[in-house]
Amino acid sequence: MSTEYDQIAYISRPFRQTHPDRLATLAIVHGLTPPNPATARVLDIGCGNGGNILPMAACLPDAHFFGFDLAATVIADAEVRRQRLGLNNVRLEALDVMEFPEDAGQFDYIIAHGFYSWVPDPARLAMWKLIEKHLSPHGVAYVSFNAYPGAMLRHAWRDAAAFHTRGITDINERKAKSVEMLRMMASATKRAGPWEAVVQEMVKAVDTKGENWVIHDDFGPFFQPYYFHQIADSAGQHGLRYLSDASYYDMQPHEIVPDAKPILDQLAAQSIELREQYYDFLELRAFRQLLLCRQDQPIARPVDPARLQSLEFSTAANTAGSTANGVFAVHNPLTGIQAEIPAPYKRILDQIRAAWPNSVPFSAIFPSETNRAAIAQIVDNLWGGALIEAHAVPQRAGDGKADRPVVWHIARDEAAQGLPVTTRLHTQTQLDDVSAKLVARLDGTASRSDLAAEFEELDERLLWLGAMGLLDPTPSHS
Ligand SMILES: C[S@@+](CC[C@H](N)C(=O)[O-])C[C@H]1O[C@@H](n2cnc3c(N)ncnc32)[C@H](O)[C@@H]1O
Repeated sequence: MSTEYDQIAYISRPFRQTHPDRLATLAIVHGLTPPNPATARVLDIGCGNGGNILPMAACLPDAHFFGFDLAATVIADAEVRRQRLGLNNVRLEALDVMEFPEDAGQFDYIIAHGFYSWVPDPARLAMWKLIEKHLSPHGVAYVSFNAYPGAMLRHAWRDAAAFHTRGITDINERKAKSVEMLRMMASATKRAGPWEAVVQEMVKAVDTKGENWVIHDDFGPFFQPYYFHQIADSAGQHGLRYLSDASYYDMQPHEIVPDAKPILDQLAAQSIELREQYYDFLELRAFRQLLLCRQDQPIARPVDPARLQSLEFSTAANTAGSTANGVFAVHNPLTGIQAEIPAPYKRILDQIRAAWPNSVPFSAIFPSETNRAAIAQIVDNLWGGALIEAHAVPQRAGDGKADRPVVWHIARDEAAQGLPVTTRLHTQTQLDDVSAKLVARLDGTASRSDLAAEFEELDERLLWLGAMGLLDPTPSHS
């Protein structure tokens, strides 16, 4: 059966928030003992053409990955790439979620990103049954979905595009006309507020992710947002419960005024599910990325910063000089977050930053200072503010100073195809023409002096590749 995903390509890409490192990290800080991602079994439901699963498998060579998707041509595309990359720890299959084999065994991490809101009811139910049956006892599942109330506004655009394309059956024509409608709405409206924000956000998504994205994510046959409480109920019917959001930043009440925070705290004292639902109402949330675990797991809330002491931390954030009121401006290019932090925060952030692109264990942060609880509290606040990242799996990459720097093979392969490249940090970036040529040469055969004759500003370019997380670790880092 040919699906719309077979007819119009949907190029999948890495999603850092789905990485087993992230899932394990959030489970650990909630008091659980998740399986070690380095040797885990990982399942990606509706994996598309492998943009997420393949780089994860390359980064965790001793873990085992299984990805499946209904669209056979999309899986064939992923399989060609898998073979080219020689990734023997990934299995890919064209498969309907409703026919998932009973004897497939258990998985420690199950990922369903961009799936639940975009499939019909029977496939949604099959997803729940799959997770219920195949999630290992201490495993973590990731389920994302379009969320109400924020996604209500997307219905308005979807309905307008449906009307504008009425009677058109050709999928490419429908795509072109629906983008035309979106651009018309974006340029015509004078109405400020949420509607304008939604339309502008859609235009930005089309411009960055390409037009194919529209036809699948907003204009496909299935588009069903949910309230948080509906998903929590469905999870409960299948022996699962809400563990956390996939983003520690998104769990903090950044989007409401400080005076409203006690309302959320009171709700949390009753039940975490109530707190989450009301926060969605208050912030008009449009998209959700939930982590779920089995109901019998002893989740400990709120997060005790002491539990951060078993983790590693990384950051690409830069701090600038102090302002008049003695705080320091900081910008994290990875998350886009800008903030101001006091001096005790800056010294910890700067120490973590010095190791970038590698992470440092908590024990290495000012190891001679005995008040570990105070350091853990600051680290927790920096993480909650998306200024640093926490890791259950140490993050290792080269810094661009080695004599024979090596761009990791996933990015070299993508660059050779003229695609955006995936980093070892499970992010994506675009190379300029010169960097793409340099990347092709960085397979370990060329030394810096060989390359210096061919490339201007070689040192800067190598440092940039290192800072992006595109280089393999040098032996001293491994
Ligand atoms: C919006 S895309 C998301 C792809 C990928 N997970 C990502 O986030 O980039 C949804 C994917 O689900 C797949 N899909 C739809 N129905 C399915 C089913 N019944 N069983 C398996 N995969 C299905 C589609 O073919 C498509 O690749």
